[in-house]
Amino acid sequence: MQTINPTLVPFKTLYTGDKIPVIGLGTFGSDNYDAETIAMAVKTAVKMGYRHIDCASVYGNEKEIGVVLKELMNEGIVTRDELWITSKVWNDKHNAVIESCKQTLADLQLDYLDLYLVHWPFPNFHPPKCDVNTRQDNAVPYIHTHFMHTWSQMENLVETGLVKNIGTSNVTIPKMKLILRDCNIKPALNEMEIHPHFQQPELYQFMKDNGVEVIGYSPIGSPGRPERDKTPKDTVDMEDPVIMAIAERLGVHPAVVCLKWAVQRGQITIPFSVKTDKMYNNLKGITEVPLTEEDMLAISKIDKHCRLIKGQVFLWKGAKSWEDLWDLNGEITTL
Ligand SMILES: NC(=O)c1ccc[n+]([C@@H]2O[C@H](COP(=O)([O-])OP(=O)(O)OC[C@H]3O[C@@H](n4cnc5c(N)ncnc54)[C@H](OP(=O)(O)O)[C@@H]3O)[C@@H](O)[C@H]2O)c1
Repeated sequence: MQTINPTLVPFKTLYTGDKIPVIGLGTFGSDNYDAETIAMAVKTAVKMGYRHIDCASVYGNEKEIGVVLKELMNEGIVTRDELWITSKVWNDKHNAVIESCKQTLADLQLDYLDLYLVHWPFPNFHPPKCDVNTRQDNAVPYIHTHFMHTWSQMENLVETGLVKNIGTSNVTIPKMKLILRDCNIKPALNEMEIHPHFQQPELYQFMKDNGVEVIGYSPIGSPGRPERDKTPKDTVDMEDPVIMAIAERLGVHPAVVCLKWAVQRGQITIPFSVKTDKMYNNLKGITEVPLTEEDMLAISKIDKHCRLIKGQVFLWKGAKSWEDLWDLNGEITTL
């Protein structure tokens, strides 16, 4: 197998002083791949040179990933402190964050996490593989006091040493303003959807201005996302003529152009794949041949504001549409 020297991968230094590699392997593939396949991809990725893995309890594969992490360390391929491991508390555990984190640590066979995120700012649960019309009966919109109760448990995890950094995911500017106002420990990172057709420049800049680093998920445009997240209006980043032209010039896959753009723009990127050649091309892509200033400018102009992971299944009774989750008019949507 071809490998990349992990020291070639740039990193971002967080306000906490910790350093996170700018590329990690995504592990959400439960609608297309079984847990063993994804765990084997993690093993291959670490052997190849990846040092950052983006996990979550809801992905249903932390136990299997834990087995391979243990093997990698036992085989002397990597040490714990060379790895960056992220996990996330799922929406049904907002009142049981510490218990949930301990379960993740047991499943991953680790003593600590580098990063723990609140996966969504709503306590609304949905079963895996549900369809777009699934709703939880008692679903609620964002309630700031509830979220801060969850956040104080996140802070406790840092204080007790189970987690090195905490962060948010799928929040908006108005939600983040309140969190920053009321937290004791500031989020170190925010994970949010970003790809060339969905650049979220205002939210991205807001995070950067507040010293919160950004992890961009679905960086390639998530072609394998669940059916519930597909609509006829969705655009395809990898088929954009600007992306395709740059890919052709550089002799790389359009997916790799999306990742180069992500890292050069300044976000941390977490592409998913279980295919060795794709994992390799992605890692290699961000360590060589940068995009030109002209390329970066051209890509900045192809934003289609096309959110792919809309989150309909988290809506509450009385909500009008998935846009209600994203506070489009600058105010938090309530009941
Ligand atoms: N915080 C959140 O709420 C949240 C939400 C969504 C995702 N995430 C995280 O972000 C990660 C990445 O997002 P994602 O899985 O939605 O989508 P993605 O990384 O944008 O796309 C993954 C898909 O792209 C394909 N691909 C990867 N590299 C490629 C290459 N070099 N050439 C051609 N195709 C390539 C993969 O193909 P194969 O299937 O053939 O391997 C896979 O189907 C997730 O796995 C998860 O860890 C977080």
